[in-house]
Amino acid sequence: MNRTAAITAVGHFLPEDRLTNADLERMVDTNDEWIRSRTGIRERRILRDPDKATAYMATEAARELLDKRGLGPEDIDLILVATVTPDMVFPATACLVQDALGAQCWGFDIEAACSGFLYALTTGAKFIESGKHERVLVIGADTMSRIIDYTDRTICVLFGDGAGAVLLEPDTEGYGLLDSVEYIDGSGEPFLNMKGGGSLHPATHETVEQRLHYARQEGRQVFKNAVVGMADAAVEIMERGGLTADDVRYLVPHQANLRIIDATARRMGLPEDKVMLNIERYGNTTAATLPLCLHDWEAELKRGDNLVLAAFGGGFTWGASHIRWAYDGADVARSYLGEAVVAQ
Ligand code: UT7
Repeated sequence: MNRTAAITAVGHFLPEDRLTNADLERMVDTNDEWIRSRTGIRERRILRDPDKATAYMATEAARELLDKRGLGPEDIDLILVATVTPDMVFPATACLVQDALGAQCWGFDIEAACSGFLYALTTGAKFIESGKHERVLVIGADTMSRIIDYTDRTICVLFGDGAGAVLLEPDTEGYGLLDSVEYIDGSGEPFLNMKGGGSLHPATHETVEQRLHYARQEGRQVFKNAVVGMADAAVEIMERGGLTADDVRYLVPHQANLRIIDATARRMGLPEDKVMLNIERYGNTTAATLPLCLHDWEAELKRGDNLVLAAFGGGFTWGASHIRWAYDGADVARSYLGEAVVAQ
């Protein structure tokens, strides 16, 4: 059988501090009812420590993963970090993570906004499938709070901070990443971007005065494209794999808006209980949403489960992938967290 890339471990990091809808009501002209009905979000996590950023969260997620898998940093061949909030323009966050972990490998960042983790997964899988590498760390991490304007109600209610990581290892029994589709459409640039700090608008007093160092979004335009793009890609991956709704154990959707997720699930013919949802607790963590879902549902996942991952984000970027899950998550959860925690 072909050599595929299977996810063999999952790690995560979430900052302790919570920003609730009630907190936001005190900051901008918004209300809990609007936020919950339009997005599905109740609270988000915020990394407050100014000395820590994306590399820190990514490293913590990687450490948890290595611990769970019983591996050390020396076992990693390649580190891919999907992020739109790197610690700095360069060096890549992957370099900072490698150094913090004490790994001896190579790596690079992938910038595809909310689709970043999906793209990084496909990229990492190629290095396993080709036989070049045995263990690839794929991390999705974003400190969105550092690029959000907390005076702009149209965007500040949406995002949160977090990181998730998966380990890819070879499989020859038909498990792992079996297929993927990816798309970009740069004509979406005006609707979701952060213009300041790049080579077109390097940081100046003027760019800061114009608040170009913050992300901005025309929500309605992005919404229209996201509903179509995410659902189309998810349905396409089902058709390519000959999967019916019954065959799919979970949709693992990017967590930008509950209504986009519901529309995607409906197009796939999936009932609610087959959809991973944690937007309520974390908001949109950009590249971290998919691995955070995998982390939260790990204990439920069984070897052989078909997962459809789907995302849509700035660029525009979007895609979907089909993973046949490679291990019984309950076993990992039991040995890592202890029986008491799993039973809860
Ligand atoms: O993850 C990357 C990809 N991003 C996405 O997929 C996000 C896609 N877009 C969305 O999720 C939705 O468009 C939003 C949640 C951002 C906005 O929801 P919407 O239903 O599209 O609202 P809207 O932008 O059409 O605004 C409706 C109204 C406006 O007022 P008027 O013009 O009708 O008087 C807004 O000014 O809601 C107002 N509004 C708010 N009201 C209270 C906008 N933000 C807020 C707010 N609180 N936070």
